Amino acid sequence: MNNFIPLAKPDITDEEISEVVEVIKSGWLTTGPKVTEFEEKLSAYLQNEEPLYTIGLNSCTSALYLALLALGIKEGDEVIVPTWTFAATAQVVDWIGAKVVLCDIDEDSLNIDVEKAEKLITDKTKAIIPVHMAGYPCDMQALSKLAKKYDLKVIEDAAHAIGTKYNEQKIGNFSDITCFSFYATKNLAMGEGGAAVSKNEELIEKIRKLSYFGINKEAFKRYEKAGRWFYDIEEIGYKTNLDSVHAALGVIQLKRLDQMNARRREIARYYRKHLSKKLEFGIDSNEHYHIYHLFYIKLPDSISRDEFIDSLKESNIGSSVHFIPLHLHTYYKDRVDMEKYVVADKVFKSIVSIPMCSAMTDGEVEYVVNTINRLLE
Ligand SMILES: Cc1ncc(COP(=O)(O)O)c(C=O)c1O
Repeated sequence: MNNFIPLAKPDITDEEISEVVEVIKSGWLTTGPKVTEFEEKLSAYLQNEEPLYTIGLNSCTSALYLALLALGIKEGDEVIVPTWTFAATAQVVDWIGAKVVLCDIDEDSLNIDVEKAEKLITDKTKAIIPVHMAGYPCDMQALSKLAKKYDLKVIEDAAHAIGTKYNEQKIGNFSDITCFSFYATKNLAMGEGGAAVSKNEELIEKIRKLSYFGINKEAFKRYEKAGRWFYDIEEIGYKTNLDSVHAALGVIQLKRLDQMNARRREIARYYRKHLSKKLEFGIDSNEHYHIYHLFYIKLPDSISRDEFIDSLKESNIGSSVHFIPLHLHTYYKDRVDMEKYVVADKVFKSIVSIPMCSAMTDGEVEYVVNTINRLLE
């Protein structure tokens, strides 16, 4: 096979393209009715019995940052974050001037180890940001119990988990605020985009105001015929609003999301069945609905992870490592107790993410399996 198989590629059809063209032709490019449509459809998609409220934003990073602000996290507070995550989950805490407290992970799911998290709680701990790694849900029951016991806010980093179910309910229904990413490689891809979701409408309206210079609700209506020129800055905010072009992509991607997630699960099943028995995989279970944002393998000790990645590249297969644990990065090394992350350190030596996206053909999936199995022989 001569064509390179990337780790991920967006699954875009003519329907997304038409919707985007229509929005461009409409003349309304920034935040407006298409964003409201996306927000309403996302709430409807996620919610269980109680209603959910959604604000579309320009990234999951913005959602996490504004969620911390909306929940009153401030300078001097401590926030527990798993070491196994992307930069965004922790840096938003630093932006506020609060202290990032990194926690080790559970070896099967790579999600935060809730028992270890409890040991990190001090008088200053005000929040915890669990990450649903690769699309498999964190133990939300244990996290809710912990939050209740110590009066902590829970902000879920659900960048990998749009459509994931914990038991029968979709992620988005469990905590104070849940933050999603619609970055180019995500299961629902807009290029750049994100959302914050909550059962608490007030919190979402707080984030809405913060997302546009602290201006009151009518900010974007001032451009409409029925709108007024007047606006009022009620507090200092930011500029992290979602625009209509990205929202148009999102509306169609959302319509296709379940089908795209089902395809990812089909690919995962094939990988699990046909990849070499020398490999280990992450957890899956019938209890929860894993949406396989990523599919990672754990290599046997005898194989060098870096050489394996080079061989995949030579065979035209893209791969990556999710993640380089935060505590191993230069910035964090001097700020944490390096002895505390035994599971993350162990897993990091052997883990590789292999191609996973709904746009992969059966031929590509088969080629990945055959190549990996050959390399392991
Ligand atoms: C776990 C996690 N959290 C947050 C983010 C940030 O998402 P965004 O790029 O939408 O800001 C990412 C992005 O890859 C991520 O993987």
